[in-house]
Amino acid sequence: MRRMIWVLLAVMLLSRVGYCQAGEYADPWRKMHASKQAALERFNDAKFGMFVHWGAYAGPAGIWKGQKISGLGEWIFYHARIPRAEYKQMCAQFNPVQFDANAWVQLAKAAGMRYIVAMPKHHDGFAMYDSKVSDYDIIDVTPFDRDPMMELYQACQRHGMRFAIYYSHATDWMDGGDAGVAEYRKKHPEDTGQWASWPANTWDPSPASFEEYIEAKAKPQMRELLQRFSNIQEIWYDVPRHMPEKMSFEFYKLAYDIQPECLINSRVGNNFGDFWVPGDNKIPGKGEGEDLYWETPGTLNNTWGFKSYDVDWKSTEELLYWILEIASKGGNYLLNVGPKADGTIPQESVDQLTKIGEWMKINGEAIYGTKRWAVMHEGPTELAMESTTAREKEGFRADFSAQDFWFTQKGGRLFACGLVWPADGKLAIQSLGSRAGHAPSDVKKVRLLGSDEPIRWEQTDQALRIELPTTRSCERGFAIEVSFQMN
Ligand code: GLC
Repeated sequence: MRRMIWVLLAVMLLSRVGYCQAGEYADPWRKMHASKQAALERFNDAKFGMFVHWGAYAGPAGIWKGQKISGLGEWIFYHARIPRAEYKQMCAQFNPVQFDANAWVQLAKAAGMRYIVAMPKHHDGFAMYDSKVSDYDIIDVTPFDRDPMMELYQACQRHGMRFAIYYSHATDWMDGGDAGVAEYRKKHPEDTGQWASWPANTWDPSPASFEEYIEAKAKPQMRELLQRFSNIQEIWYDVPRHMPEKMSFEFYKLAYDIQPECLINSRVGNNFGDFWVPGDNKIPGKGEGEDLYWETPGTLNNTWGFKSYDVDWKSTEELLYWILEIASKGGNYLLNVGPKADGTIPQESVDQLTKIGEWMKINGEAIYGTKRWAVMHEGPTELAMESTTAREKEGFRADFSAQDFWFTQKGGRLFACGLVWPADGKLAIQSLGSRAGHAPSDVKKVRLLGSDEPIRWEQTDQALRIELPTTRSCERGFAIEVSFQMN
């Protein structure tokens, strides 16, 4: 009987974390993946991290030869169709003399972030660290004689911040050949749509083939990074659109062989991820990804890499909404900053992150270490967060009310968070009414996070009714903790 329970538990755990896999790599992948359960739990408990998109593209900051280039700041190489030699010359001017790794890490800490995903190489192929594999790196090409990735890593160690990396394995506009397009199309002749050769460099491709690039640059650089930085929480691979299964598997295994606990995102390709990335600035819809660990990357405006003229900054309310919506669905939020070419983080980003941090300091208990509850959200406001471009086009139009609640749970406690303090100081949380059937009837204690004042509450058939204290716990919204006894 005992054994059966263990087997059942193991099956449940595996199905919670796993992707559906078939084929010759399925078994070895499953074994590696299953060994990362504790790391996945740690990752999921952390809930909130900082993404940093920072490379030589911060120099042009969205403008090339006097023209505003549309699209993401870090995509300027691609959208302006810059010849490779010219891009390299541009990189040579990169000199971030104000870069201060401590300040970045302190900002992440102040924002309540628990890890940083740094960026040693994006699609432009330019290594932002001292790479022995390629001369196309910050030390060899620019006058800046420092290794910012190493400095960031060391600052993370000093401040107790988990460190992780993004590495564009499949796309490299400088050295990546055709990004695997030709081989892919032989196998998929039906795939001829507008994305058929996206995002390969088709205007001035490198002479090396994709396979040569993978063997001579991408894999050696990944090994180099994994050897240089220990205890990497996660690796963010990116855009494996044309990557064959074997290669994705090799990138997964390569990390495992050096750091067996390091988590791999789903963009390694071909379903070999340890956790799922629903999409850029995308929150999964109801029921989506419920059995997976996941992380949504999000921007503070509409670009990842700095763009001097993108001033569509998200408001504090919007960012808190993203945090609550994601936490209530059991995911992680990886919020991006795009530092400038001088190495400083735009003031608007600093201001927003500081405000978020103030909220997290009081209400973070309702976020960190929590899991999804039976109900994620209650109330009239329904929004769909689909993508970076959708958010840019449509803006953020929400009219939250004091009837909107987001729920999380942790060890015998439920949390109900809201963004609007009720004018009459009264809350009625229907999902916590005894008739709703989700909430335990033996509520022991109800508390407003960040407040010592006792509050009056009553659990009726219809709702948990609460009278909030007269003093607000924080500038915006509230988080209610409901303790009950586990059976
Ligand atoms: C996309 C973009 C890339 C960005 C990433 C962030 O894949 O190509 O520029 O780094 O999303 O999630």
